[in-house]
Amino acid sequence: MGSERKALEPCSIVIFGASGDLTARKLIPAFYHLGKEKQMPSAFRIVGFARREKTDESWRAELRAALDQFSRTQPVDENVWREFAANLSYCQGDLTDAAAYKKLEARLASFGSAPLRENLLLYLATLPSQFGQVIEQVHNAGLLHHGNGHGWQRIVVEKPFGHDLASARALNRELTRFAHEQQVCRIDHYLGKETVQNILMFRFSNSIFERLWNRGLIDHVQITVSEKSGVGQRSGYYEETGALRDMVQNHMLQILSLVAMEPPVSLEAESIRDEKVKLLRSIRPLTPEDVAKQVVRGQYFAGAVDGQPVPGYRQEPKVKPDSNVETYVALKLLIDNWRWSGVPFYLRTGKYLPQSASEVRVQFRPTPHVLFAAQCGPKLDANALALRLQPNEGISLHFNGKVPGMSLGVRPVRMHFSYDSEFGAYTPEAYERLLLEAIAGDATLFIRRDEVETAWRIVDSIRKGWENKPLTNREFYAAGTWGPVAAEDLLAQSGHAWHEPQVIK
Ligand code: BG6
Repeated sequence: MGSERKALEPCSIVIFGASGDLTARKLIPAFYHLGKEKQMPSAFRIVGFARREKTDESWRAELRAALDQFSRTQPVDENVWREFAANLSYCQGDLTDAAAYKKLEARLASFGSAPLRENLLLYLATLPSQFGQVIEQVHNAGLLHHGNGHGWQRIVVEKPFGHDLASARALNRELTRFAHEQQVCRIDHYLGKETVQNILMFRFSNSIFERLWNRGLIDHVQITVSEKSGVGQRSGYYEETGALRDMVQNHMLQILSLVAMEPPVSLEAESIRDEKVKLLRSIRPLTPEDVAKQVVRGQYFAGAVDGQPVPGYRQEPKVKPDSNVETYVALKLLIDNWRWSGVPFYLRTGKYLPQSASEVRVQFRPTPHVLFAAQCGPKLDANALALRLQPNEGISLHFNGKVPGMSLGVRPVRMHFSYDSEFGAYTPEAYERLLLEAIAGDATLFIRRDEVETAWRIVDSIRKGWENKPLTNREFYAAGTWGPVAAEDLLAQSGHAWHEPQVIK
């Protein structure tokens, strides 16, 4: 995570399953930008490995066309592209066919220099069910070493990391059958976001806030990741997943662990990850009775978003007409440790909500006595700190101030920090950062095996509470609203209310 890094060693990147969507949408645009920003190693090659017949030329042409659509900077710089594209080649082969890996080995050997042959970033853009066999084949082809003088090899994988604890464990066993855990980079793209990384910087490089960061002064914390879009083209996947597995198991629990973890011993990857796991382990386990009280799920029915009518989830293609899959979840978690005992952490996420925004709101305790009751009623807004993760990236502090004039009026005011106005508009895509860290071999931004498994334990206990319980009327919400009424009640029980993520103009 350090700002000064040593020069990256030359390497080859092999994308398995390269004809899929991810390569054209995310991976190649990210590598292209890293090339443009002169962040790639001095020498590198990218090999696309997939079953479809393609030549180097036709693959490059396809990717060039995709950049017009998916590059975050437009127009595409032809000079940069030409230089970048010279490093791209395509290796046709079936993932299950040993001969194809021999062909891959020959391709890598043709790159000449030892680092290009041996330093390998193996990106598995395949189905998780294929991870095990690809790694085995790569191992059989003699491409995987364990740091014994043959460069480095790292395996990059993306979620879903299983669909419950048992399957996640099985997947982790597959991933580490021929590789060490240290060679596996599990991506959670939220960790590549600048603002998510800033949670640690903010907490541990400022003495004033960290002193307040505990049960003594914090009343509760709200984490909202809301999306204005529905499930769209991914309804088939979503039917198997739902909001809890799609967002809470990974992104939301990652944000929570960064917000609530103890200071790490150092900025070493293992120190940071140790603290995150410790925090996840301190989350109070939920019994089915707790789930009934502390977790609210929801599913959208037809409504309107930005004035446009949209269908209900059950009317989406590939969705069962009586589906019980949740498109919304809100939950209250308690953390049983010295710092957080008794402080509720409320998390919510959903599709077809009124806003696309991710925000952490730290709500401080109210003043013990309202001196200004006559001016502002018995309730004075408590102080709050909002970490705006996206959009309008920044931080706002809410406090109360005197309204100018002869009377003693008091009202809430805000102090804003905005990334854009402070640092300009440069916000690299999460993938750029993550791919660079994978090449550099810094594991801080990747999810360790025990993190994945601990997060599944929490999610599994919630799913157990939902078992054989169809959705009830109270659990539906109209698309374009802030979720089911039950989610409001979840906070109201403790005298709290959700805060909408801020829109800063
Ligand atoms: C993905 C989920 O991991 O994150 C999607 O599978 C979700 O359902 C997406 O839309 C949200 O990511 P972002 O970066 O747009 O907030």
